[in-house]
Amino acid sequence: MQSSVDYTLLNRQLEALLDTRDWITNSAQTSAFLYQQLGNLNWAGFYLQRQPKVLGLGPFQGQPACHPIPFNKGVCGAAARLETTQRVDDVHAVADHIACDANSRSELVVPIVVDNHLWGVLDLDSPLHGRFSEQDQAGIEALVATFIRQTDLPNLVQNVA
Ligand code: SME
Repeated sequence: MQSSVDYTLLNRQLEALLDTRDWITNSAQTSAFLYQQLGNLNWAGFYLQRQPKVLGLGPFQGQPACHPIPFNKGVCGAAARLETTQRVDDVHAVADHIACDANSRSELVVPIVVDNHLWGVLDLDSPLHGRFSEQDQAGIEALVATFIRQTDLPNLVQNVA
């Protein structure tokens, strides 16, 4: 499914789009670009680590979403905790999946790690079962690498005394 997507071209287009170093601007642009270009998505956006071990909702496209998400919950939490991409063909089969939208069937979550610190995650949701192939995962991980390279990503964790 979706194997005809030219991720090399998308990567060049994303690199051209991200012509600031500002993380708010670039994460907003990236979520809009992915939502428009990838197809068969019902949500695309960022969750950011703004408190220790908690993900806060960041720039996104799609319906209003769950907030906050602790690291020990859901597919996004697993990606943040394990610092590995989570690719789920059927979210209904994941016991602690957080259903923001009952239409979501499959999900891809890519961690964003900067200087050994989990800055946030990119979350993509689809109403189709098995929307994300291994090839999509590799292509989307390369797009996230471009976002990281093109953007200043300061540590957003506020240490509350
Ligand atoms: N389904 C996610 C929560 C985020 S929303 O889908 C936007 C999860 O289980 O982590």
